Amino acid sequence: MSDTTSHDSIDFDRYDRIRPIRWTGDALELLDQRKLPFTVEYVTCTDSDAVAAAIHALTVRGAPAIGIAAAWGVVLAARTVDADDGTQAATRLAPAMQRLNDARPTAVNLAWALARMRRVLAASGADWREVITREADAIASEDLAANRRMGALGAALIAPGSGVLTHCNTGSLATAGFGTALGVIRAGVAQGRIDKVYAGETRPWLQGARLTAWELQQDGIAPTLVADAAAAHLMSTGAVQWVVVGADRICANGDTANKIGTYQLAIAARHHGVKFMVAAPSSTVDMDTASGDLIHIEERDPGELFAVGGVRTAAAEIDAWNPVFDVTPHALIDAIVTERGVIERPDGAAMRAAFGG
Ligand code: MRU
Repeated sequence: MSDTTSHDSIDFDRYDRIRPIRWTGDALELLDQRKLPFTVEYVTCTDSDAVAAAIHALTVRGAPAIGIAAAWGVVLAARTVDADDGTQAATRLAPAMQRLNDARPTAVNLAWALARMRRVLAASGADWREVITREADAIASEDLAANRRMGALGAALIAPGSGVLTHCNTGSLATAGFGTALGVIRAGVAQGRIDKVYAGETRPWLQGARLTAWELQQDGIAPTLVADAAAAHLMSTGAVQWVVVGADRICANGDTANKIGTYQLAIAARHHGVKFMVAAPSSTVDMDTASGDLIHIEERDPGELFAVGGVRTAAAEIDAWNPVFDVTPHALIDAIVTERGVIERPDGAAMRAAFGG
């Protein structure tokens, strides 16, 4: 694993203005991503079931962001529980934590954040409420620091003057701030390495068209939107040198689950000699899952495919299949970038060397 770059040339605050999750001290405010880009509105959650419902409904979305939201959900659940110490609290909080965990199945960050909350609870005494509040705060601030670090590491792989294609939304909206793949792109633009950013629209939920395009505009970066179906043709023109995507779960052999459509981008990239980068914090690495075929791929309501912006576009009375993630085999990935460093040509041995297990 290599780590040879520095943060020095990036003005992070200039490129990091959006916060999707705000803890007020007694409530959780979530920027409602169902309404962006036309309405910028926070919803307020005052109990953990509201947080679980918001995660399920994609009010808050993106692997790191749902982990952070779930951690704050535990803090909200704690208000309904009396306990003398952390062990007792853990038992009483277990049903609420299970409901948070069940809100979405694919991104490991959700289970990872809840496991972290469970661990500190088990080790705490009468001060367990303060301990879990500090932990939720730490999960969020560590994510922001990880994103800034991996932004610099990933950008260093990209040659000046490059074009990049990204998929879904992996920016501030999907994290505590700055973003994973979009953090790499922000850092690459800041350093003059990236001249042109293409964003795939990401059917059916349009995370690319609605969220990534809007986020980049806030930074003064003008993205070019492409239909998902245009990606292979775009690569054939020579306009992009890297595909840069995020991840929802990276397995012990490097296989990576990410937004549906990522796998076909990786296949097209390999065919066209375009490099393929996955950027994700180490909280997305799941060394307990051996390979991608073991990942639970979320399937959502087929109705998401029938309409755009509430207007029906599909023929009446048809069936649809709506898996919302896919798995890119590790052999198609040129680099996995985490805050711990860069893994080139990831496989089981390289992953074990980086993450143990
Ligand atoms: O269904 P979503 O919008 O939660 O899916 C999000 C993605 O697939 C992202 O690429 C991934 O979570 C990484 S976000 C930093």
